[in-house]
Order: sequence, then structure tokens, then C-alpha cells
Amino acid sequence: MHKTVNDIIVKKGSKKISVVTSYDYTMATLCDQVDILLVGDSAGMVMLGYENTAPVTMDEMVLFTKAVSNARENALIVADLPNKSYENEADAVANSERLVRAGADAVKLEGRMPDIIKAIIKAGIPVMGHLGLLPQTAKKYTVQGKTEEDAKALVADAKALQEAGVFSIVLEMVAAETTKHITEAVFVPTIGIGCGKDCDGQVLVIHDMLGLFEKMTPKFVKKYLSLSEEIKKAVSEYIKNIENRTFPAEEHTFHMEVQK
Ligand code: KIV
Repeated sequence: MHKTVNDIIVKKGSKKISVVTSYDYTMATLCDQVDILLVGDSAGMVMLGYENTAPVTMDEMVLFTKAVSNARENALIVADLPNKSYENEADAVANSERLVRAGADAVKLEGRMPDIIKAIIKAGIPVMGHLGLLPQTAKKYTVQGKTEEDAKALVADAKALQEAGVFSIVLEMVAAETTKHITEAVFVPTIGIGCGKDCDGQVLVIHDMLGLFEKMTPKFVKKYLSLSEEIKKAVSEYIKNIENRTFPAEEHTFHMEVQK
């Protein structure tokens, strides 16, 4: 039996929540031990090569969600509603239902959108909020909540999302002190990325933490592996083996039956 939204909520104040992004079957199989597999629209950058998440479509998110769902045995699956897919309540509900049909247990959307959130929840689909840096619409990727005024506004936004019924809130690139205020001000779990340690959980883009994505590595990423180096080394050795005829060897080769 996989994790439920309630399993995530009850962790607040007792055990930290672990989240990684996931977009494909093989990686989801390897990462399923976390609490939440987030089918993030960061897929647009790390899987599709877009400059940012703005161009990601519903069709793309459905495909990634299906792939992750085919692998999942343990984690809760949360899928991002992409840019422009929740501009009104009818679209938000219809698109959330598409993601659920593809295998998501809940959806995530960016910003203070209480009416949209309430409409999705009314349709029976749990919603995760997202505050702080909002990549779908941000002009620049800068740290949020650095002044008293901004901190107060973010606490108010978080309370508004909680009031609307979200089961948790992702905070992205928020000053650590502000993150602590927000986490203490709401009873739903906060999941941080680039927000310091005072969140109820942490999320990283899987390509960043495994050292797979070479285009950029934000300051908040801890790289657990350098897979891009390993992969390039392996491919280079493969090319050499082909050129010097050491691959395929006898053990990789099929033969005709010996005629008697
Ligand atoms: O799309 C994504 O990967 C996200 C995380 C950065 C939280 O929303």
C-alpha cells in the first residue's frame, strides 16, 4: 500500500518529510523509498531541454506522471499543474482530473489562488501549495522573504493556502528565518527547496542531487553523486571498445546451432 496524504500530514512535528522529483519509470523505481515523488514541471528543463518551466504542457505532464505511476509502490505521487493549466476553476479541475487519471494522488500549483485550490479540493483531489519563488512566472530567480514586509506577506499567503485546504506547502528559495516563521504559523507541513533546515521536509530535483544536470547547480543543492561524469566516462569507454573491437566479446554473442 502506498503513502497517503494523511501519512504526510501526520509527520509534521515528528519526522521530516523526504521528497524528490521524478519523471520516468526507471528513476521512480530507484527513488520510491522517499515519502513523496514529485512529478515537477522542472521536467521541462531537465527532461525536455526548455529554458524554464513556462512552456511545459498538460500532455507532457500526463506522460511523465504515467511513467512515475507505473513504478510507484511506496511514495505518494504529487504532479505539478503546468503554467496556464489552472487559470480558471473549470480548467484547474479538468486538468487535475487528467493528472489523477494518469496516476497522481494529488496536484501542486503555484501562488496564492484560494478559489482555484478550493475548486480542485471540492472535486476530491488533494492540493499541495507552492510559495516563495514561483518559477512558472518569475522573471528572475531571487531569494524571497528577505525583508520584514515580504516575510509577513508570505506568512499571510501560507495561512490563506491552509485556509483554502492545501495538505502541504512547498516553499522555494525563501530566507531561512522567514521559512521558520511560516512553518510555525501553519499546521500543514512545509516542504523546502533552498529554504534552510526549518521546514517540515525537503525536496530536491533528482537530476541536481545526483549530479546529472550540468547546465547549472543552484547554491542550495547538495550533490550526492557526480553521475554526469560517470556516464560520460562510460560512453567514452564504450566508443573505444567498439573502435578497438573489444566489444562485443564472445559472451555477448549468439551463434547458429551446430549442424550434425
Ligand atoms: O517542478 C519542480 O521540480 C518543483 C520543485 C522545485 C519543488 O516544483
